Amino acid sequence: MVIVSRALLALAALVPAVVARPSQTCRKVQHDFPAGTNKNDPRAEAVKQAYVREWNQYYKYAFPQDDLMPLTHNGTNDLFGWGASVVDGIDTAIVMGLTDIVEKQLNHIASVDFTKSAYIVNFFDTNIRYLAGLLSAYDLIKSGKFPNPYDEHLVEALLSQAKSLATAISPVFDTVTGLPASQMNFTTGEVIQASSTINGTTYNSTNTAQAGTMILEYYRLSDLTGDESFREHAKKAESYLIKPSPAPVYPGLVGTELDTETGKFITFDAGWEAGVDSFIEYLIKTYVYDPSDEYAQQLRDFWVVTAESSMKNIALHPYHHPELTFLSQSDINGSLMWAMDDYACFAGGNLLLGGAYLDRPDITDLGVKVTDSCHRLFNTTTTGLNPSSIAWYNQNNTAYDNQYNKNATYRAEAAKNGYFITDPSYRDYPEPIESIWYAYRITGDTRWQDYNWEIFQALDTKRSKSVPYAEISDVNAPGGGELINYVASFYFAEVLKYLYLSFAETDVVSLDEFVFNTECHPMRIKKPCN
Ligand SMILES: *[C@@H]1O[C@H](CO)[C@@H](O)[C@H](O)[C@H]1NC(C)=O
Ligand SMILES: *[C@@H]1O[C@H](CO)[C@@H](O)[C@H](O)[C@H]1NC(C)=O
Ligand SMILES: *[C@@H]1O[C@H](CO)[C@@H](O)[C@H](O)[C@H]1NC(C)=O
Ligand SMILES: *[C@@H]1O[C@H](CO)[C@@H](O)[C@H](O)[C@H]1NC(C)=O
Ligand SMILES: *[C@@H]1O[C@H](CO)[C@@H](O)[C@H](O)[C@H]1NC(C)=O
Ligand SMILES: *[C@@H]1O[C@H](CO)[C@@H](O)[C@H](O)[C@H]1NC(C)=O
Ligand SMILES: *[C@@H]1O[C@H](CO)[C@@H](O)[C@H](O)[C@H]1NC(C)=O
Ligand SMILES: *[C@@H]1O[C@H](CO)[C@@H](O)[C@H](O)[C@H]1NC(C)=O
Repeated sequence: MVIVSRALLALAALVPAVVARPSQTCRKVQHDFPAGTNKNDPRAEAVKQAYVREWNQYYKYAFPQDDLMPLTHNGTNDLFGWGASVVDGIDTAIVMGLTDIVEKQLNHIASVDFTKSAYIVNFFDTNIRYLAGLLSAYDLIKSGKFPNPYDEHLVEALLSQAKSLATAISPVFDTVTGLPASQMNFTTGEVIQASSTINGTTYNSTNTAQAGTMILEYYRLSDLTGDESFREHAKKAESYLIKPSPAPVYPGLVGTELDTETGKFITFDAGWEAGVDSFIEYLIKTYVYDPSDEYAQQLRDFWVVTAESSMKNIALHPYHHPELTFLSQSDINGSLMWAMDDYACFAGGNLLLGGAYLDRPDITDLGVKVTDSCHRLFNTTTTGLNPSSIAWYNQNNTAYDNQYNKNATYRAEAAKNGYFITDPSYRDYPEPIESIWYAYRITGDTRWQDYNWEIFQALDTKRSKSVPYAEISDVNAPGGGELINYVASFYFAEVLKYLYLSFAETDVVSLDEFVFNTECHPMRIKKPCN
């Protein structure tokens, strides 16, 4: 799938000083779709209408607060009060061509003071939702591929606000090691460290995902503003992650917690689950963003070790279900748990992207297997939505947690489906939808579109008609059990964008031009093909 021009390679051998090295040549990962694929697909229109409907609910009841509470018809400021659903959701509206809505969103964004907050600000969410949302909206509008009837100063405000926000939160990097502290009081400038107690010792700590999930945004921000300090902060934090000490149990599969005083890992709970997830994700994506960058090449090398080690050590089949391949997480001391959370379902798409980009069919194959297995988590439940976490019986027909070994309910569930549910709630999760979208754009196989259409229908109809899109307590209860009074901002950012792009024309936000942050915010590849 990787297209490296032979002529160019031959030329490179002759005049290496002039022509780009192979790692710098333009690579395509998207399937070579015929022009006009998905033109006027009514499924894309249906997803767009869902966005309009939900945005109108948010605007009516919650704007400019962060998130909609759909049962009580009001909103909540649980993400620092800057209008999370607006900033997280604007790029989806841009991609859908909803210019009236985008206009309102741009006006709101230009009016926010991102250097002030009445709340304690969390660095990770600020980065993935706000900073990336701003950069993505800026990149998409500036790409010239979407309608742009907007005031120029509103568009430029996206970038100046991004810089102002990143500058305001930069004190989090003032730790002994340069690993970012978790939180900050924006009124006093005080940085607030998280702490973890491991084997009786308390450490100032951060988690792997938090330390390793700003490098893509910070590379983009440095390239757009010319201010290198962002890239330098991100590289410093990342340096502890790609030279892990002490060594993890399996190569490339690091734990979730680090001591911010020494840069050492203090836990061995590896996998692709929450706490590690987007660190692994960004290793390959930073390289896709700028393959000519030497540091990004080191990240790529670490990602390959992680992918190969995952294949060898944690890609496992449940007892008597060889058709399923899950990626196991480990416990704090590094023992396999034969369990996986929803978040780890992004792995399929990330393996597909990296496998295609690096021309590694073995890695791409693993991506397809993991994506198919995550799809199974949707299509075996009553609501057609996937649970928060699952576990399975290993090759010896044993579960990690002994309470599941003697219980006939779990045994029957696993015999039928290959897994059993350990947390049945559905919290507007995008990860399996995301991987299914990557599988479609990379392989061109339309069965993946069918899966995402089934999921959209499940979202649209199987939950309560009166309050669509509330989160639900139990994916196997009729109607989803209890409705949860919350719509996550990533429902606008991720769920609806990945669904829409599954049915939109395939050159809308092409994987050959954009690289997506972990919250589904596409940023323009530094030197895209063509
Ligand atoms: C939302 O409305 C409910 C019911 O009226 C109320 O109890 C709750 O305090 C409100 N929440 C906020 C954040 O205003
Ligand atoms: C920020 O710190 C000040 C001074 O300690 C305190 O009064 C304020 O409540 C803090 N802000 C938040 C949101 O906790
Ligand atoms: C944690 O950080 C605080 C504030 O920076 C510092 O006072 C404290 O000594 C640190 N704790 C450890 C265990 O290093
Ligand atoms: C806790 O201590 C045990 C026994 O020394 C050790 O095997 C384990 O790796 C430690 N756990 C962590 C997370 O450091
Ligand atoms: C990890 O090891 C420590 C020290 O031996 C032990 O106390 C703890 O229970 C272990 N944790 C798990 C989840 O196995
Ligand atoms: C679930 O999807 C698989 C394909 O991955 C298909 O074979 C199976 O029939 C589907 N089951 C249901 C209940 O839709
Ligand atoms: C399964 O049992 C065999 C024999 O007791 C043991 O060697 C092996 O480690 C076990 N496998 C797992 C995954 O626990
Ligand atoms: C088995 O698990 C189910 C579901 O959690 C629970 O309701 C039931 O009480 C358990 N049965 C036993 C014997 O522990």
